[in-house]
Amino acid sequence: SRSTDPRISVIGTGYLGATHAVCMAELGFDVTGVDIDAGRIRRLSAGEVPFYEPGLEALLRKNLEAGRLTFTGSLAEAVERADVHFVCVGTPQQPDSGAADLRHVEAAVSGLITAGLGPGDLVVGKSTVPAGTATRLAAKLAAGVPGAELAWNPEFLREGFAVDDTLRPDRLVFGVAPEGTAERRLRAVYAQMIGDGVPVVVTDHTTAELVKVAANAFLATKISFINAMAEVCEATGGDVVELASALAHDARIGRRFLQAGIGFGGGCLPKDIRAFQARADELGVGRALTFLGEVDAVNIRARARAVALAREALGGSPANRTVGVLGAAFKPNSDDIRDSPALEVAEALRRAGAHVSVYDPAAAENARACHPNLCFADSVVGAVAGAEVVLVLTEWHEFRELDPAVLRPHVARPIVIDGRGALDPQRWRTAGWTYRALGRPRR
Ligand code: UGA
Repeated sequence: SRSTDPRISVIGTGYLGATHAVCMAELGFDVTGVDIDAGRIRRLSAGEVPFYEPGLEALLRKNLEAGRLTFTGSLAEAVERADVHFVCVGTPQQPDSGAADLRHVEAAVSGLITAGLGPGDLVVGKSTVPAGTATRLAAKLAAGVPGAELAWNPEFLREGFAVDDTLRPDRLVFGVAPEGTAERRLRAVYAQMIGDGVPVVVTDHTTAELVKVAANAFLATKISFINAMAEVCEATGGDVVELASALAHDARIGRRFLQAGIGFGGGCLPKDIRAFQARADELGVGRALTFLGEVDAVNIRARARAVALAREALGGSPANRTVGVLGAAFKPNSDDIRDSPALEVAEALRRAGAHVSVYDPAAAENARACHPNLCFADSVVGAVAGAEVVLVLTEWHEFRELDPAVLRPHVARPIVIDGRGALDPQRWRTAGWTYRALGRPRR
């Protein structure tokens, strides 16, 4: 590589960090990935991605082989090799307040300072943090290493599309201090994408932090909006799918994120709206975000409504009834089960006494570790064998493509609850199934 190229380190090789490190190497930079988890470093160094993400492992191997990518447990090594350091560590939810736990972010910045960061170095935060964090970290950095700079560059990637979203983002957001070199240096890092026409928004630290949480709050609100409409449809006999597709013709509303169902889960949306509310409370503007409490409540109700629909389908108590569940991941193309609506519905039915058998093409192993009381099957047929009701709770392609006629002889009663709007009702009804979905009439 040319001597003027930024040399990059990525602190934290979880979902975001591992993807970012691999994609930066793919752009041609020398990249050092750092993590305190030795097992993770070992696996990544061996070309193994420790989570399910289409396309990532091939790129990891390619860039390891090209010698552009190394992983280490040592921040000192990162400081020695690189001059632009991306902070990609997690900001988990604190159990009581819902506020973000910033200890890993603080530790990363302190660690870089102690490891010998130089005056020409740039630290770039990518983690999702409460507004005000970057300004505080910038002061800490300036005090620790005069001349070093801090920028905030939030990440908007989706699980399941992480590589594509990183290499072809909708936009880049650079939160920088008014004077300094951060904008120029970030433009150098992202030169290829900017050349391809990806828009850049240059702003201050705080606005950059806010863009991230505002985007996730908007997406969560959109999903809960349509799920609230589903509740109204259930009370009135309307059809939320037809409603959503009619709404979608209005370009101001759009078609995406209007899929009614059991709601949002995962490691980001639920945690981010709670942390955003907690931060607004601290800032004395809690009232501006009280609606996010409703967004959360609608979302949690969606899970309960799916359980109620299953009870109704069973014609009474789930106790000792056989239930087949298709899907465990919080969404398809992922093995992530954090705050998974699918598993919460499955657990609620199990707690009510049902024998629940779950199948998921990628997340079963993670799910089994956290839900030892659920049964896991190796196939769709295994999960639905003898079922009195089948619930589709993650919209994997494999489930969309199921042939209801082939499945029918395996179940005790052909009733399917489509928790994700993944199935074609007509097809299932024609094959003799009773099809039920949230926000849709019985017909
Ligand atoms: C989300 C955002 O979409 C990303 O832009 C962001 O970078 C990321 O969080 C993050 O903060 O790291 P992700 O959690 O991967 O990405 O998942 P999404 O695709 O947003 O889906 C979130 C949840 O909403 C899933 O459980 C999905 O099933 C649900 N959903 C989505 C619906 O219930 N209905 C919809 O119409 C769309």
